[in-house]
Amino acid sequence: MNEGMQTSTRYGALSRWLHWSMAALIIGMVFVGAAMVDSVAAWQPTAVQLHKWLGLSLLVLVVLRLVYRLRHPAPPLPADLPRLQALGARGAHVALYALMFAMPLVGWAMQGAAGTPVVMPGGWVLPALVAPDLATYGLLRDAHAVLAYALFALVLLHAGAGLYHGFVRRDGVLATMLGGAVSAEPDAPESLPAIEEPSTAAAAPPSGEAGRGEGS
Ligand code: HEM
Ligand code: HEM
Repeated sequence: MNEGMQTSTRYGALSRWLHWSMAALIIGMVFVGAAMVDSVAAWQPTAVQLHKWLGLSLLVLVVLRLVYRLRHPAPPLPADLPRLQALGARGAHVALYALMFAMPLVGWAMQGAAGTPVVMPGGWVLPALVAPDLATYGLLRDAHAVLAYALFALVLLHAGAGLYHGFVRRDGVLATMLGGAVSAEPDAPESLPAIEEPSTAAAAPPSGEAGRGEGS
């Protein structure tokens, strides 16, 4: 029941899983996209097909992610983080979500404008989002490229900020997304010497730390 629930110290398991798998897929999509538009090799049509399928899978994943995220608030940022940096982080997250939606939708719409049906595995043909029109195609094709490189630039900035939190400020923000791999607290309990339990342990009151763990 508690599976994937977000706690105050880190993102829930589902959030973290979606974050890292989508990050890998999106970065891959940008590189595959850039390589395929510059290639006349035999693999190019297969790459374009895979690019479309993966891009549309990302659209499904981002819908799932946003629904989950709206129901599970993010862990709070450190109280001593300058207000401007906190605002910048939230703004960047909103922009990342907007681009994660825009990229597949623009890609899908541009196929409609080109008059090219999007055929999913199994032969399922997606409806066109816009009617065929050369000028609209040109506009959407340019938008797809510009937005992709804006997304990539923002991801670099965002990853840089994450690493700054993890290795310069060491404030536990990176650990909120890494989950169990890194402790948010500098002195993890396992580094402390073991304390002998008194024989009356069964009657001892429960620890105040209960509820901090993820339970997954
Ligand atoms: C395509 C790549 C990426 C995208 C689209 C992305 C997107 C996001 C978004 C939207 C959030 C807000 C939490 C949420 O609602 O899901 C977030 C949080 C976070 N991301 Fe990424 N991310 C990417 C790659 C990375 C990388 C490479 C790092 C490595 C340092 C990273 C580190 C973090 C951290 C530490 C947080 C938590 C920050 C906080 O709560 O303020 N992300 N990411
Ligand atoms: C997160 C999702 C996506 C990302 C990050 C992405 C990224 C890219 C990039 C970087 C390019 C190369 C742009 C250039 O340099 O001109 C590209 C091209 C392209 N993308 Fe996407 N894309 C995504 C989703 C989609 C979807 C869903 C479709 C269609 C259903 C699509 C169809 C295309 C097509 C047809 C091209 C051009 C191929 C060509 O002209 O040879 N993309 N994409």
